[in-house]
Amino acid sequence: MRIIVINGPNLNRLGVREPGVYGSKTLTDLEQRLLVFGDVEGIDVSCFQSNHEGDLIDAIHEANDQYEGIIINPGAFTHYSYAIRDAIASVNIPTIEVHISNVHAREDFRHTSVTAPVTMGQIVGLGFKGYELAMLALKEQRGGK
Ligand code: DQA
Repeated sequence: MRIIVINGPNLNRLGVREPGVYGSKTLTDLEQRLLVFGDVEGIDVSCFQSNHEGDLIDAIHEANDQYEGIIINPGAFTHYSYAIRDAIASVNIPTIEVHISNVHAREDFRHTSVTAPVTMGQIVGLGFKGYELAMLALKEQRGGK
């Protein structure tokens, strides 16, 4: 199966950005890890990152025809972007939302996700492992267990 992992704003700063919250590994480390995990699980993974709302929306729209699932970490857009929510709602493939940190243990504004209600589910606080668990969930949903 083919899936895309979409990371939103500031996730290109992984490794240098608040390492106490997000760890010391970089976005490249994350993407490499997911490619290796995908090889093991028979999942063809593409990765995309952008700091721009419109580019994320375009990537979600384009995924509809090219992939069988989306894993998205919308970064801070999670908390207020109705446009990204509508983009997720507009596609016919399952989407899982992932957050590296436990957003519920952080500032109040991070407790709300406007995007999660239109996803298949949300995984928070498990670090990079959350992306792998989302991959397994997409595979199982498709029946490729
Ligand atoms: C994040 C949590 C968001 O609140 C924050 O704005 C991010 C990263 C996470 O992965 O934990 O950029 O999505």
